[in-house]
Amino acid sequence: MANEEVNTGRRRFLTATTAVVGAVGAGFAAVPFIKSWSPSARARFAGAPVTQDIGALAEGAQMVINWRGQPIFIARRSKAMLEILGGMDALVADPQSGASEQPKYAQNPTRSIKPDISVLVGVCTHLGCAPEFLPEVKPEPFDPDWKGGYFCPCHKSRYDLAGRVYKSQPAPLNLPVPPYHFESDSVVVIGIDGQGAA
Ligand code: FES
Repeated sequence: MANEEVNTGRRRFLTATTAVVGAVGAGFAAVPFIKSWSPSARARFAGAPVTQDIGALAEGAQMVINWRGQPIFIARRSKAMLEILGGMDALVADPQSGASEQPKYAQNPTRSIKPDISVLVGVCTHLGCAPEFLPEVKPEPFDPDWKGGYFCPCHKSRYDLAGRVYKSQPAPLNLPVPPYHFESDSVVVIGIDGQGAA
């Protein structure tokens, strides 16, 4: 019995030692790894703008890219989706996005430069979970009259297709819109606007 306890204690010690050595080893390994990145990769890691071709993004679909370690939701809204957005003001908490974070050029009913392309930071304004993109108009367990939008599974906050939060949700604000601009019809740059402001 005493031996067993000694062995268990030794095992714990060995496991802890291995974990520390592993962590230190990983730290040493990471520095030359990051140093070996190209200047553009290092800048990107630090939060430089990210360029994305959205030519293949289908109507009604969304792609998720990474900018400054955050998911960025880029969606192509259909005409029908835009029509629905036009009738959402009474359901959402901040229809004009007065209290929400977005560049001036995205403070409009669609919260975007081009009405059909939406660009949002995919981080719930309650406690930071990733909302799900549920674009279809159909009854959902959390809303029998669902009109399409974003649903946060953590505490059930709902957002419309412009990232505007519904009234009386745990989330206090609309999803932020990052600075962005279009380099061409099908290329969007996240992280900087057309005048170079981040
Ligand atoms: S984190 Fe999204 S509702 Fe709480």
